[in-house]
Amino acid sequence: MIALFAAGAGRALEAGFDGVEIHGAHGYLIDQFINLKWNQRTDDWGGEKRCRFAAAVTRAVLAECGAGRTLLRFSPGWSTPGSGWQQPAETLPLLLDTLWDAGLRILHASHGEYDQPNLPAELLPAELRPASGLLPLHQATRALWKGQLVGVGSLTPARAEAALALGEVDATAFARALLANPDFVSRVRGGHELRVYRPDYLTKLV
Ligand SMILES: Cc1cc2nc3c(=O)[nH]c(=O)nc-3n(C[C@H](O)[C@H](O)[C@H](O)COP(=O)(O)O)c2cc1C
Repeated sequence: MIALFAAGAGRALEAGFDGVEIHGAHGYLIDQFINLKWNQRTDDWGGEKRCRFAAAVTRAVLAECGAGRTLLRFSPGWSTPGSGWQQPAETLPLLLDTLWDAGLRILHASHGEYDQPNLPAELLPAELRPASGLLPLHQATRALWKGQLVGVGSLTPARAEAALALGEVDATAFARALLANPDFVSRVRGGHELRVYRPDYLTKLV
């Protein structure tokens, strides 16, 4: 599987893509290793070593594409209730350290709502913890990650600009706004209003 990830990444560059994003989020294979809820292995790929598979895939993809063209997307909590990481406070630093040691330098922290606080404030040093006791994913990740960070989740162009200006993240991603606005870039550049996403737009894409 590790070699297959690398081969797929290599083919993506060959096909002309500028980079690849390893899907380590949303309950897919890599996330199944990271999440103790699913990973109940007692060998060298479970427990304290549950992030080893993510690191092994990352190393293999980095060897194929290089650190400037490789991102990894991860998600401690995602849209299906109860499907997030079992121990986010222990797992987040473990994952980020493991990925950094593997040579990764660009991370994509995936959450459906960029500003929604859903991680324990204990991830930050005591003096930086908000009184609410909870942190949004981008803030927790920023505090623990020395590399570049991409944020996402119901962002508007204005909120994305603010996030960049404040240094919360280094880049922002959009999904539904792009689906609803094929001319997203020119609309944003021109200061034009965006069409609001509706799920039924998907029926026209497939
Ligand atoms: C129709 C649809 C399909 C999606 N498919 C994927 C997917 O295959 N992989 C993935 O990582 N995220 C997927 N997402 C999540 C988006 O990448 C994004 O993280 C999420 O929609 C939040 O960003 P947004 O608020 O800008 O839409 C999908 C989202 C939508 C609406």
